[in-house]
Amino acid sequence: MREFRLGCVGLGGRGRGMMEWVSNGIDNIKAVAACDNDPDKFYKPFDEGNRLAPSFQELFPGVQYFRDYDEMLEKADLDIVMVETPANCHTEFCVKALARNIHVYSDIPSVASLPEAEALWKAGQSSEAMLMTGATTCGWGFVHAMQDLYKQGLLGKAVYMEAEYIHDCRCLWERTPWRKPSAEKPGYPITYCTHSLGPLLSILEEDLKTVCCVSTGSLTTGVPGGNDVMCALYQTQSGVTIRHTNSFINCAPAGHSYRVFGTEGCFERLYARGQDKGHTRFRSEKLYAATNMTELDVDEKPLNVDKWTCDQQAINAGHGGADGYLWHIFMEALRKGEKTAPIGIREGLRMTLPGLYAAESAKQNGKVIPIRYPWDEDWTTSF
Ligand SMILES: NC(=O)c1ccc[n+]([C@@H]2O[C@H](COP(=O)([O-])OP(=O)(O)OC[C@H]3O[C@@H](n4cnc5c(N)ncnc54)[C@H](O)[C@@H]3O)[C@@H](O)[C@H]2O)c1
Repeated sequence: MREFRLGCVGLGGRGRGMMEWVSNGIDNIKAVAACDNDPDKFYKPFDEGNRLAPSFQELFPGVQYFRDYDEMLEKADLDIVMVETPANCHTEFCVKALARNIHVYSDIPSVASLPEAEALWKAGQSSEAMLMTGATTCGWGFVHAMQDLYKQGLLGKAVYMEAEYIHDCRCLWERTPWRKPSAEKPGYPITYCTHSLGPLLSILEEDLKTVCCVSTGSLTTGVPGGNDVMCALYQTQSGVTIRHTNSFINCAPAGHSYRVFGTEGCFERLYARGQDKGHTRFRSEKLYAATNMTELDVDEKPLNVDKWTCDQQAINAGHGGADGYLWHIFMEALRKGEKTAPIGIREGLRMTLPGLYAAESAKQNGKVIPIRYPWDEDWTTSF
């Protein structure tokens, strides 16, 4: 079977981890090139906070290092680029690879501005390559269970949904400075919204069309531009409402929660807190034995992962198997010669752009503002 030559840009914790899991766990992938504008990330031992881990060069002796991304694209003869640069600078790397018809697996969020959304959309339209949005949370087993219940009609039509992502990231500010709030990026963390919106939008046909968002401001740390907690309310044209809370500065237990109220039932995933393990539950008016909230024995591990022909240990390494699942379905699409990725540019923008508009709404003290997408007739690159 054909071998796919893989290069990675961004050799921080995530780039290293993903290169390891993907090249060990997915068949027919060969890691050949790596790029970071900081050569220490390739040549020096890697600071994991509590230990110095082997350098990238030691982990991947056959991989060629490039300091310059354009040079890597020019010289490494890549089939796939994995983009693992800081969260606010993915687009330029994706656009350049797509322009050369190199497939892309990009981490999230998809874009950091409306002009970037336009550039990515256009690049996707004119490229023969596909871009897979690395929307990790869409790879979790309980999300697949929610999608399955929805497809079977057991939840009916979604009416109201919730998502929250709580994670005190202060301990990561030094090692990954892009995570530290600043006056230059005042919309953080609501702009880091794909983990919350991705799973919910996967069962919603309509796009989100309006948003109002508020912030607590920086009450805990006083860091300029900091937002301890941001809450957004999104609506579709027909009135489906999503409440979304993001907090990266807090003293609360970390995790992702989701709830879906449908016309025929409801679903919830509540993350583990203290002694309480995570719960995945649903109820349905359509199923005689499930009219009370019913616990499902489904956690993060993707459904059906045991049936894959791949290294299970490596697959399970990334977010309980979610990253491995996304790579698995991406590679399936490539092997079959599909034209678009299972989670492509459109899906990525659907789950990214609402957060940019939410940040703008928070800047305007919670004003309700319309959300537009590059495929809309009234699309514009300003708010
Ligand atoms: N999907 C998930 O669940 C998940 C989890 C963690 C991180 N992430 C994403 O992974 C990405 C990387 O996160 P991280 O924790 O590894 O951050 P990091 O800061 O450790 O790594 C980013 C790397 O990119 C390099 N870089 C910056 N600009 C560059 C340029 N112009 N050219 C080449 N290299 C450049 C930096 O030197 C750094 O080594 C982020 O986008 C983040 O959102 C996703």
